Amino acid sequence: MKQLLLEVEKRVREKFTDQEGSHDWFHIDRVRKNALLLQKSEGGDAQLIELAALLHDFSDHKYNGGDFQAGQQDVYALLLELHAPEKIAHAVAQIVGVVSYKGALVPDEKTSLEGQIVRDADRLDAIGAIGIARAFAYGGSRGRALYDPAVSPTLHKTKEAYAQDKGHTINHFYEKLLLLQDRMETQSAKVLAANRHQFMLEFLKQFKNDWAAENPDIV
Ligand code: ADP
Ligand code: NI
Repeated sequence: MKQLLLEVEKRVREKFTDQEGSHDWFHIDRVRKNALLLQKSEGGDAQLIELAALLHDFSDHKYNGGDFQAGQQDVYALLLELHAPEKIAHAVAQIVGVVSYKGALVPDEKTSLEGQIVRDADRLDAIGAIGIARAFAYGGSRGRALYDPAVSPTLHKTKEAYAQDKGHTINHFYEKLLLLQDRMETQSAKVLAANRHQFMLEFLKQFKNDWAAENPDIV
């Protein structure tokens, strides 16, 4: 199992090293660390969690031309190629299939404790200071505007509508990032999310003040 983890880490590292900052190797590594931290208090199979965390963005629809199934299929095939037991390949692929956020009005799929931990760990990295940095890195990589006060957020009803939206990055906070705190499933992630959530609210307040040039030091 140790050997399998090392092989998977090597493959993922290779694949993600040149990705832009919102989805690079450091994101994968932070999610792995968050997930293992959550596992300490929540329980669950640590090796399954680590494998799924390492592979959770392996073939993300945002980077593969919009294929929602490829993540699960590629991960399953990779694990079999690396001689993982079929049961493990199947369990990891199932988790990888449910991690992604699919829209404000699209409920998260039911999953195992290990799946909940990996999903919460990925979402912790989407909020707070790192979440803010990642959102603007992603928006920049797609040529999105920082903000446009005339364009309001949309609460998407389907994963397709969510994936096709090309709105400005401030909207992403209202369409996803501020909704994540209440979608955390493990108790430990709820606790860790609270500070990060507050920090995003502060950031948005300051951003909008600055945008409106309401500088309290001058008036
Ligand atoms: P998920 O699997 O839920 O999509 P990922 O780990 O792949 O999560 O990363 C999603 C992150 O990518 C978001 O939290 C955000 O930082 C960035 N991102 C995705 N879509 C947008 C968007 N429309 N605008 C800004 N950032 C985005
Ligand atoms: Ni991720």
